[in-house]
Amino acid sequence: MPEEEKHLDTLLTENRTFTPSEAFKARANVNDPNIYERAAADPEAYWAEEAKNITWFRPYNKILKWDPPHAEWFVGGKLNAAYNCVDRHREGSRKNKAALIWEGEPGDSQVLTYDMLGREVDKAAHMLSNLGVKKGDRVAVYLPMIPELPISLLACAKLGAIHTVVFGGFSSKSLQERIVDADAKLVITADAGWRGGKPLPLKANADEAVAGTSVEHVLVVDRVGEQAKAEKNPDRDVSWHELIAKQPSTPFPAEEMDTEDVLYLLYTSGTTGKPKGVTHTTGGYMVGVNNSMRTVFDLKDEDVFFCTADIGWVTGHTYIVYGPLSAGATTVMYEGAPNYPDRDRFWDIVEKYGVTTFYTAPTSIRTFMKWGPEYVEKHNLDSLRLLGTVGEPINPEAWMWFHKYIGKEKAPIVDTWWQTETGCAMIAPLPGITATKPGSATKPVPGISVDVVDHDGHSVEPGNGGSLVITKPWPSMLRTIWGDDERFRNTYFGDFPGIYLPGDGAHKDEDNYVWILGRMDDVINVSGHRIGTAEVESALVSHSSVAESAVIGRSHEVKGQAITAFVTLKEGVTSGDEIIKELKQVVVNQIGAIARPEELVLTNELPKTRSAKIMRRLLRDIAEGRDIGNTTTLADPSVVESLQAAFKR
Ligand code: WTA
Repeated sequence: MPEEEKHLDTLLTENRTFTPSEAFKARANVNDPNIYERAAADPEAYWAEEAKNITWFRPYNKILKWDPPHAEWFVGGKLNAAYNCVDRHREGSRKNKAALIWEGEPGDSQVLTYDMLGREVDKAAHMLSNLGVKKGDRVAVYLPMIPELPISLLACAKLGAIHTVVFGGFSSKSLQERIVDADAKLVITADAGWRGGKPLPLKANADEAVAGTSVEHVLVVDRVGEQAKAEKNPDRDVSWHELIAKQPSTPFPAEEMDTEDVLYLLYTSGTTGKPKGVTHTTGGYMVGVNNSMRTVFDLKDEDVFFCTADIGWVTGHTYIVYGPLSAGATTVMYEGAPNYPDRDRFWDIVEKYGVTTFYTAPTSIRTFMKWGPEYVEKHNLDSLRLLGTVGEPINPEAWMWFHKYIGKEKAPIVDTWWQTETGCAMIAPLPGITATKPGSATKPVPGISVDVVDHDGHSVEPGNGGSLVITKPWPSMLRTIWGDDERFRNTYFGDFPGIYLPGDGAHKDEDNYVWILGRMDDVINVSGHRIGTAEVESALVSHSSVAESAVIGRSHEVKGQAITAFVTLKEGVTSGDEIIKELKQVVVNQIGAIARPEELVLTNELPKTRSAKIMRRLLRDIAEGRDIGNTTTLADPSVVESLQAAFKR
């Protein structure tokens, strides 16, 4: 059985379908199944209708200009994302409603109403402007999950600067690569953030990262204080707290942005070593994310929305910041680890703030399962009415556990498939309409057209698998890869002209439901985070003792996939635990702790074909303990046995 089908086999162990309850359906924002057909009949008209939920300073004159692979949405329209997320709510009945509920790991917390958030964003925009940041400049944001993070993003948006958030778990080298590629002028960071009861230092990494770059200032938030001991560089560093206190309390005028002006860059891993600067623009992104809140997440004014992602990833951008705030919701953000001080922290937060909608990753659910239901049962979760998952295929077992222990068998689950590049959920149930099947993200949302195709781009019959594609442009799609339009073209539109290729394999069932099988390229999905095998390999071979390396993703009970590295050392280098430890650390230093290989296997040789191609599929079979069939295509079949033995050790 080919690997993909085997995977599917395990996916299909739960065959039940779950239909929305009458009670949920009756109150749902969207409960007329006709919406699918209506949107499919005229997607542009559908999106134009949705665009009415965004406030435009100047109306657009054309819905879509599609010059594949380049799309422009709401052509000629002017708007401001921060105005849409904050100011327009301040002017109306939501003025004193909680916009952001923030919970710090040590137990400190803050509630900012829309009016308060607006004042903070205005002050921060004045501050950035006084530091010389102008419309179109790039600002790198390397912050822990503290209120200054969304405030920074909104302040950039308010004045028209382009933010690029770098996840705090990335190393100084990764940060530097992104700063250089984006040519950022300013870096916003903090001394450290709290994670698992310990300070996670950021400022020291930022210092290393900015050396020799175009960065003029490093704006530093004091989060941890004494225990973090960040060095200060008087020529370059400025203190957030000192500066913000000096800003005028007058509103900062929202810059009139063109619909296609860039809102943000977010770097993501690809098949080659260099991360790609996924570029999102203003109008289409805002329409897409706002629509997603109302349709997929059935958002109501009284909802309290808790997305457990980090704002360092796209899920946090869309479903902590821009989505919920544009819709005028209350968004909850938590700084730290889910098991600090104990394993019930998320449930404590749900109970404390009356969270209604809880959005997390399958890897977290598998962790909760391992910890056991007793942590959940300590809390009253009655406020929860809708659950969501994202980041990787969810195994039916985890789906059922989520349904039973968190959703109490009444809250619908929306399994949302999407990517950094797509901006918001593309394949997901509408909770008041769509029957769900555990393990399937179900169907494309209204206004989105997807298909599963074979090598020639032909639609596969129900019951078959192939490549997932998105066949029509959509508002929140990436517009390019920053500074590399050629790569944008080749990566996403190179196979089938005008058709977007996400890089995921999928299967279509009898009901035309989509089952995502995972990446088809050399990208590993570790706990829902994308890591390119090429990035890890180049980190390893940068070490003077390494001759060659091959990195693969093997299936992992909790993480979904784990990184396994096979390394051959240069002649004369002593192998042993010492070097293994050192090499793992090289990866941590070069990329970040999220890319630390789970196993690193030293081997005299890597399995290669006679034309000297490394056989990754075979390495995956070895790492997953599968039988190795025919090895006659190998240059040296004995390599397999020695690798199997090495892996067992
Ligand atoms: C995977 C995260 C199955 C997929 C929003 C995609 C999923 C990659 C799902 C994007 C899902 C995301 N079911 N697989 N519900 N959601 N993926 O850019 O392989 O960090 O291509 O965006 O995650 O990861 P990214």
